Amino acid sequence: ATTPAFDIVFFGGTGDLALRKLLPALYQAHKAGALHADGRIFALGRKAVGIDGYLELLQQRVRPGLGADYDDEVWKSFAARLHFHSLDADNIQDYQTLLQAMGDAPERVTVCYLATAPHLFITICQHLAQVGLNHPNVRVVLEKPLGHDLQSSNTINEAVGRCFAENQIYRIDHYLGKESVQNLMAIRFGNTLFEPLWRREWIDNIQITIAEELGVEERGEFYDRTGALRDMLQSHLLQLLCIVAMEPPASLAEDAVRDEKLKVLKSLKPFSTEDVLAKSVRGQYRSGAINGMPVTGYREEHHVAPESNTETFVALQAELSNWRWAGVPFFLRTGKRMQERVAEIVINFRDVPHALFPMPMGLHSANRLVIRLQPKESVRLYFLAKEPGDAMSLQSTYLNLDFHTMFKARWADAYERLLLEVIRGQLGLFMRRDEQAQAWTWVEPILACWSKYAIAPKTYTAGSWGPAASSALASRAGFLWHEET
Ligand code: BG6
Repeated sequence: ATTPAFDIVFFGGTGDLALRKLLPALYQAHKAGALHADGRIFALGRKAVGIDGYLELLQQRVRPGLGADYDDEVWKSFAARLHFHSLDADNIQDYQTLLQAMGDAPERVTVCYLATAPHLFITICQHLAQVGLNHPNVRVVLEKPLGHDLQSSNTINEAVGRCFAENQIYRIDHYLGKESVQNLMAIRFGNTLFEPLWRREWIDNIQITIAEELGVEERGEFYDRTGALRDMLQSHLLQLLCIVAMEPPASLAEDAVRDEKLKVLKSLKPFSTEDVLAKSVRGQYRSGAINGMPVTGYREEHHVAPESNTETFVALQAELSNWRWAGVPFFLRTGKRMQERVAEIVINFRDVPHALFPMPMGLHSANRLVIRLQPKESVRLYFLAKEPGDAMSLQSTYLNLDFHTMFKARWADAYERLLLEVIRGQLGLFMRRDEQAQAWTWVEPILACWSKYAIAPKTYTAGSWGPAASSALASRAGFLWHEET
């Protein structure tokens, strides 16, 4: 089904996010026939490059990334949707000119996507409201990071909330748009098999990892002020945790799901100072090698302070204070310049109550469910089976569901799906204000304690699995990280 007719306006239309993610996503949606024929894209940028200059920029920056999906005819019809306007975010006059160019049409779905630095969010929203671009059919999309801490995110949310109703505000966490994250809901609530076991009685521990091979690229300045806890854990990892741990919602209605996610965030046990010291690990990469190629250390990256103490890796042992999960450790970990690009959720089940067979050497638990989000979506259920032969000797084996083998159809990437959801007016895959505030509330004491006690990050070699302290964190609790088992 195609979307309704729409206008989408990209603030920051010449920026990295627009060129790397948003325009390719719309191209793919256009190619797949998912966009209404009457759908226009307005890219905004400070420089008056004109539509020709903009199309030229897209040829250089977007087209090569499309690879085999590039098609001359499709590209031409896609380009026909595009308009470019120069706009200075501070200048109200520019918004009026934009509105004139778009034509004042309050019945039309209008998406204003703020792919700019967050310090511009308030100004842009206020100006949109001043020129009347906040009528009920306008939706505003806010990219993360929404602020730096609870207070700054409250300031933004309050100011934006004075210009738009909550149901017009789409706060993006692109992990919620990933196919496999949606699948996690399907696995949990579409099958009878897992739900009865999905609790403290049967689960020993849960691990969530998002490891990247990339370093900070050209984002050193932003990253050095931000760090892995704010950049990845406060958002993506906690959202994954919510979907893994939430109670079955009564329906798939957007607030039914978001209410359940909020309850998970509220039951996260607050970290005391002792917890921060014992259950959090900060790391920072030194030079090393990724796939055999030498890479520089974090402190030598562009726009990073040579003495920087920003973490590029974080691991935490969290716990939920509720009946389903009390006492089950949730290990969360993310880092840049790690050995492999992988995002996965690992559910380690408890051992059998009485062991008839010896556990195979080096194995920690017999049953493990590994839900892999990246790079290739798959679900693996590990279990023990008898090795053929005379001896009653057991071996770890698995049932494997590889989504790319099972399903041949193309599926949308995260940004494509989320853009379509906004145009269709579906809020379920976006964060509600209270969810976001709660996530900040939980991470703040960790940040405060790191800063109060000047806890310097432990170093790790680029291309490894993070600092040794991260393995120690898991092994103190009697476990190993999945890749170490
Ligand atoms: C972004 C972070 O939100 O997610 C980046 O700001 C990170 O630092 C990116 O690289 C990872 O996303 P993905 O989809 O490539 O895992």
